[in-house]
Amino acid sequence: MAFMKYTLLFHLLFLFGYLSVQAQDKTSFYPGDLWFDTDGYIINAHGGGILYHEGRYYWFGEHKGEKSNAALVGVTCYSSSDLYNWKNEGIALSVSEDPNSPIVKGSTIERPKVIYNARTGKFVMYFHLELKGRGYEAAHVGVAVSDKVTGPYRYIKNGRVNAGIWPLNMTDKQRNTDLKATDFEKWWTPEWMSAIKDGLFVCRDFEGGQMSRDMTLFVDDDNKAYHIYASEDNLTLHIAELTDDYVAYTGRYIRVEPGGHNEASAIFRKEGRYFMITSGCTGWAPNAARLMIADNIMGEWTLYPNPCTGKDAELTFHSQSTYILPVQGKKDTFIFMADRWQPKNPIDGRYIWLPVLFENGLPVLKWFDNWSLSVFQETK
Ligand code: GAL
Repeated sequence: MAFMKYTLLFHLLFLFGYLSVQAQDKTSFYPGDLWFDTDGYIINAHGGGILYHEGRYYWFGEHKGEKSNAALVGVTCYSSSDLYNWKNEGIALSVSEDPNSPIVKGSTIERPKVIYNARTGKFVMYFHLELKGRGYEAAHVGVAVSDKVTGPYRYIKNGRVNAGIWPLNMTDKQRNTDLKATDFEKWWTPEWMSAIKDGLFVCRDFEGGQMSRDMTLFVDDDNKAYHIYASEDNLTLHIAELTDDYVAYTGRYIRVEPGGHNEASAIFRKEGRYFMITSGCTGWAPNAARLMIADNIMGEWTLYPNPCTGKDAELTFHSQSTYILPVQGKKDTFIFMADRWQPKNPIDGRYIWLPVLFENGLPVLKWFDNWSLSVFQETK
């Protein structure tokens, strides 16, 4: 009996020691390592994005389980004042128990992003929503709002984007084509690709609205906000302007890199130019990142080579972009955030955060086993 008590005590002491080591203040980023929150639990916020509000960063992400990618819990929220140490703020948006709700437990909720609207005082969350049991065919965007940054967020709507409205950069000829998606039995032929570039799938989805999968949000310096999403069966990115309250579309939107197969977009603005890093479309498997630059968010966008350099650059260091975070109080300082997915055990997906360095005016991503914010001074 005494022995059992002793071992129990030993185990408890060990566990306590372990948790307190994990909960100690961190002063560096360790891309790809387990990242513990201030309670000693592994951070569960995948495909995430970050909002800075009144002196704190708020990290929103997908809660993932061990066996499936389905949303069983909802969108999580963590907060931090220094970016290294994150406090669990709980579930910002919960899945619904109501089988008729679009965000019912078992639906797919991916890549949530939150922005703050100063006019309405509301926090607005957009996310990629796939309806339960329908794979990835719905390609919907979901919207939720809250009066408090950490939530609870109230689901308000879901659907496709800008039904019945043409993108600004499609010509009359492209809009009035006689070609139909059903004319093409085979994908990937040169004729099909040429029709895709001309907007074949925009025409197909015109009435019901454009598809919206991987997504991000961006608030510009003039407070106008934009929803950027993989559309047209992930073949073309769209950038759609939001209304002043951020909960609807103005109808102004553009196509970017038609037929270019971009997803996982992450965007930032530096010295008046817009930089977007995306991935190609290979599901959970990593591929080479792409870089696009524009002087105006509504285009023209120009494609540049992969911004990653060094070992595993062609696989974005075994990860896929999710967000680019402006570091507060440090001019033109950004962190590239990506996910190293583990589709067989989604909860074990790892976070890859790397500093965005610049060479000849272009962003460059290099691998660091560990790094801290001081890297930005050292490299300037
Ligand atoms: C990836 C996408 C992820 C998820 C996954 C599903 O391409 O970036 O967010 O949707 O596909 O296979």
